[in-house]
Amino acid sequence: MSDEIRMLPRAYHDAVEHWQRHNFPEYPELAKRWERYFPKDREFCLCARIEKDMPTEIQVGEHRGQPKALVPAELDPAAAEQLLAIIRAQASTEFGSIQQHHGTFERANDPQDQTWVLRVMAEELRHGYQMIHLLTSADWSSVTDVKPADMVEDILSMQTGSHVLAAFNLEYDSFGDSIVFAAFIDRVGKYQLTMQKVNAYAPMAASMPPMLREEAFHLAAGVIPMRRWMEAAARDRNAAMDVATIQKMVNKWFARGLEMFGDERGGQTNVKLGLKDMANREAQDLYVAECVKMLDDINTRYVRAKLPHRSRDEADAAYERITKGDTVEGITRDDLLRLPDRRFFRRRGEPAFQMIGFDGEELTDVEEYIAHCLEHLPQAYRASIDTKHWMEMQRGVAGGTIELKKAVASMPRLARVGGTCPCSKSVRWVIDVPEGPSGGGERVNP
Ligand SMILES: [Fe+2]
Ligand SMILES: [Fe+2]
Repeated sequence: MSDEIRMLPRAYHDAVEHWQRHNFPEYPELAKRWERYFPKDREFCLCARIEKDMPTEIQVGEHRGQPKALVPAELDPAAAEQLLAIIRAQASTEFGSIQQHHGTFERANDPQDQTWVLRVMAEELRHGYQMIHLLTSADWSSVTDVKPADMVEDILSMQTGSHVLAAFNLEYDSFGDSIVFAAFIDRVGKYQLTMQKVNAYAPMAASMPPMLREEAFHLAAGVIPMRRWMEAAARDRNAAMDVATIQKMVNKWFARGLEMFGDERGGQTNVKLGLKDMANREAQDLYVAECVKMLDDINTRYVRAKLPHRSRDEADAAYERITKGDTVEGITRDDLLRLPDRRFFRRRGEPAFQMIGFDGEELTDVEEYIAHCLEHLPQAYRASIDTKHWMEMQRGVAGGTIELKKAVASMPRLARVGGTCPCSKSVRWVIDVPEGPSGGGERVNP
């Protein structure tokens, strides 16, 4: 690992810590638990990390072979504009996921799972810090009139319901969502970061490897408990989770994960501009294949736990047969986890609001379709604002009263909440941004 640590200027660093005190009060607990749970890992640091020795020439697209940009003004203006939007959206996801995890953090039923999620949250905070570093360590005035302090303010003011991407506007129903989210949504994060390792803006590209090393832990924080849940469900029908419950959580998050790649038909511009090395559908295909593998691994462990009298090889052979439709000692395909059809419960992208069922079947009656989806989604999610809004949109699109484009663009709670620090003492997160060199040793662009 060779990365260099950068701190934000004092005002922004303070704003992030201020945000943390309000939105992530469990953070100090991590330092107390670190030694016990992660004795071999270097201690957590709230800082930006810049990878050293990265390629200096543009790796993909129209400007391939030319030097990478060191400041936004050196980028193609279209690329700079697009990149700014990407960084802001990325920052929103980092802070947004902490707010989601926070909602159910105290309800964890296992101290290790909880501590792993705590570390995930802290690392997301660091990722948000990293994105703010990208926004505030360079001059973006060639593509925006918004001052750096206001960009930071905008990001820190978002709440669950006003974030950029739908997956970050869903409340968790239980601590279980923290786990399934890590397995499915952080996995999309891994893809986005991997694609951006080639980014034509050198500081962006150099931000990716340290984040990716952390993302690997986030995936484990999802997959390992899911394996354990399934093994427990195989042994004990009264275990904390049963297969149907886990399956419904998978169904809730998978569709939102797919949508995070952007419309299946798009993404070529990002490649052309040298910002990512894959278009949307290509990346989504790889993601789906990886999710299939993940569920295969989890299902294998379920079957092994269900058939403890068989050797591992025998159990794995039984699993093979079950996936092909056989029943082995009472276990059928329906007892295992499955990915829904990619078009199931979609609200964005190519299959948005098409009435495609869990197994890819086409439904024609909207009330039938809604009932079908509800049957495959968690009970607690049924009563959410998100579900209510989706049902309205689905009915509107099916009945021709809401234009598809409008339904795709709509979110249940649109209003950006501005200047919302709940402290009585201040109305902004970023207080008094000094000009010139300051606290963290980096320049703030006035
Ligand atoms: Fe992250
Ligand atoms: Fe993550």
